[in-house]
Amino acid sequence: MEQTSFLARNRSDDSFSSIFSRDEKSLLPSSVHQKPKPKIRVRTLLSHCLYRRVLLWSVGLLFLLCLALSSSGSHLRHDRIMDLVDFTKKNASEGDSQAGTGGAGDEGKEKGGSDGKGGQEEVVFVVSTGSDEHQQQQPATIQDDRMPNWLRFRHLDGYFNGLKALVHASDHKPEYPKTQGQESPSPLTLSYTGLPTPTMYAPQPNYKSSEYTSQYHHVETCYLDKKRRIPVPDIYAYNGVVQGQPEPAMGSHSLLGIRNDVCFDRFGRFGPYGLGYSFTEGGLEVGLDTEHEESEVVWKKTGKINYDDIDWGDAQDRCYEANKNRFAEPGEPGATPPVTTGKRRQRSFLNRERAKISRTAVVIRAYAGFEWTQHAILNFRALISELSLRSGGEYAVHFLLHVRNNNEPIWADPVTVQRILDENIPKEFHGLCTLWSEAQMRLLYPGKFGNSVEDPSGGDIHGVYRSAHFPLQHFAMQHPEYEHFWNWELDMRWIGDYYELFDRLGSWAKQQSRIGMWERSAKYYIPALHGTWENFTSLVDAETIESGRAPIYGPVKFPGRMSLRSELRGESFLPASCSRHSHASPSKECGVGEEADLITLNPLFDAEASGWVFASDVTGYKHSLPTPPRRCAIITASRLSRRLLRVMHEETWRLHHTMFSEMYPATMALHHGLKAIYAPHPVYMDREWDIEAIDKAFNGGRDHSTGGHGSPFDLQNEHNHKGTTWYYNSEFAGLLWRRWLGYAQFDGRGANGGRQGEGELRGGKEEEERPDSTGRMCLRSVLVHPIKWEHPSELE
Ligand SMILES: *[C@@H]1O[C@H](CO)[C@@H](O)[C@H](O)[C@H]1NC(C)=O
Ligand SMILES: *[C@@H]1O[C@H](CO)[C@@H](O)[C@H](O)[C@H]1NC(C)=O
Repeated sequence: MEQTSFLARNRSDDSFSSIFSRDEKSLLPSSVHQKPKPKIRVRTLLSHCLYRRVLLWSVGLLFLLCLALSSSGSHLRHDRIMDLVDFTKKNASEGDSQAGTGGAGDEGKEKGGSDGKGGQEEVVFVVSTGSDEHQQQQPATIQDDRMPNWLRFRHLDGYFNGLKALVHASDHKPEYPKTQGQESPSPLTLSYTGLPTPTMYAPQPNYKSSEYTSQYHHVETCYLDKKRRIPVPDIYAYNGVVQGQPEPAMGSHSLLGIRNDVCFDRFGRFGPYGLGYSFTEGGLEVGLDTEHEESEVVWKKTGKINYDDIDWGDAQDRCYEANKNRFAEPGEPGATPPVTTGKRRQRSFLNRERAKISRTAVVIRAYAGFEWTQHAILNFRALISELSLRSGGEYAVHFLLHVRNNNEPIWADPVTVQRILDENIPKEFHGLCTLWSEAQMRLLYPGKFGNSVEDPSGGDIHGVYRSAHFPLQHFAMQHPEYEHFWNWELDMRWIGDYYELFDRLGSWAKQQSRIGMWERSAKYYIPALHGTWENFTSLVDAETIESGRAPIYGPVKFPGRMSLRSELRGESFLPASCSRHSHASPSKECGVGEEADLITLNPLFDAEASGWVFASDVTGYKHSLPTPPRRCAIITASRLSRRLLRVMHEETWRLHHTMFSEMYPATMALHHGLKAIYAPHPVYMDREWDIEAIDKAFNGGRDHSTGGHGSPFDLQNEHNHKGTTWYYNSEFAGLLWRRWLGYAQFDGRGANGGRQGEGELRGGKEEEERPDSTGRMCLRSVLVHPIKWEHPSELE
């Protein structure tokens, strides 16, 4: 019962130990030793992010691969493992002869320092070639048409270099992608003196600065406790980047305004919230079993915070109350931070009037039966602290808890509600929960919905699988205090500060023009291929002209289109900036400065003929007419505006329209002319893909987009995402995340490309602590999904 002891909290008033029971393991993939589970569990596995046909298809593919694989390559080897490899060489065998350092076993060792832990002594790494066989992928030998092409690309190593290889961002030489003519100073030499020291990292506006206070209301500092003694802690970042770390293959930090000259290790990121210290000290006990040299620095200022009695709901409410006058009243338009958007600044005669800002809710979709772990708790402490408390209540975090049992009297009896909370949510988050059930959705959206064009899942129209947006629509109607709503999930993680992520996504999307927005949003941005965002914009404009399709910036017409009440009254969602020239050819300024109604984290693709499984799960439209035009973004993590949710709500209750969860918000935005933006956040790949191959695989749909025929979201093409950091079937996301947390992982390498769970056990305490190791990992900000498990004991 190792797992139970790891997870159970060492407290007598442990109100949620019951939820840590061992048979709640449904969300853990590849745990082959599980007990048989009831049917509902299988549906859980298939809900939302995993589609059963994809799963079946993948199982089939894996089976074929397994057949082809030899038994070699799965044994453990601890000799000759190097942390740093020469990633700059163009050709592995060439590099070998250049480096000429002879025996592979000596490579990568530091010269001039004996144990690497001396701290003060100068240590020089000679970074040499990786001549270990496992670092050079064998060319595939099987000739199976179904073997994905990308399995032939070499795995990248630079992610796994540690803190001791930290360099200033200007000296950073990414292993991938290589810039043209990139010189390989082989062997690369790194020097350091001990471990670098992290510094506090706060991406929120400087609320005390005159720049801020001249425009906005005073921000009252928020505390974790009632007595206002425990301030919300800072997180820590390292100033620099680990040498060799690859650049994102798709998306970009700098485009969105997210810093890429710093990196985060596990202690700087989560130490302030309870990682790395014991229950008796008020921590979460996790991370003690990983390498932790000099981790203490992150507790120097605040001490190890005792989180035992923190009530996050109460802390959030107190924070909002203290800052109430900063925010626009419901219905009143608010200006938006950050400070750079001073345009809407209001002036009175005395110039004392300050702009009020609007608020955003982050709504986390929780469900009864989710197995909470200490790592999950850490993640949500970080989210609440960074977004809600550190922003003085600009953001608020809510858990929308799906109660699966429709017979529970959740509106009649507070004792029942308390029992459900006790059984399903850690006590510290109880005050943030809103319960809902599918029975409630049937009451809220009554009447006949009509037949669906297709219904591949066979699910209930009011069920969470097909209509996850229903409870969010209702939540928005109940919470007029929020202008925007981030839909978020339990198995997403962000290395970096959550405020920086959400704030920059919002402000970047706001600056985007409506002209060409649907076309740009339908395509993955690959900086190494496309150049700057301006280059990308021109390319998309040219491709749009070439396609012969009219660009879309406002509401669309289609047979059978029905109007909203507001449209019947003659109202439009287009901002004034779109009517400056003429509606026929509005200026590029159209939509610039307008808050986005929808921000997605994957492209908004045309679902028609895309091969996406649920492309025709469309309900309530006349079957005698063509299916309406649709857009969709995979993974429901997205920001929706109040007015978009109001549109969705009205279409649902009044017109009985709905579509599969990932398609409905985007399609409603398309039909009614709302502003929808895909934000190209940084996405990494585990292999050295040819840049053109990425474009071919990921923008291979109609007119070089992600939509239509050839879409990367076609069931047949989705395997391409397995090596990325952000897709529901990603294998690399979990591997990277757990290695970063400090746990050894099978590296997925080996003959024929290797796959998840194959290869060697790499990383983890033993490897990170070895004298010739570069230490624990430090990664630049990145979103990872899906994270189905974190601590190795969860697999037992
Ligand atoms: C790599 O270098 C070796 C030896 O110089 C050469 O035989 C081989 O063709 C090269 N491979 C590539 C892909 O350039
Ligand atoms: C991007 O645009 C600039 C300026 O127009 C041009 O010089 C450059 O070649 C373009 N880069 C790419 C990759 O198209």
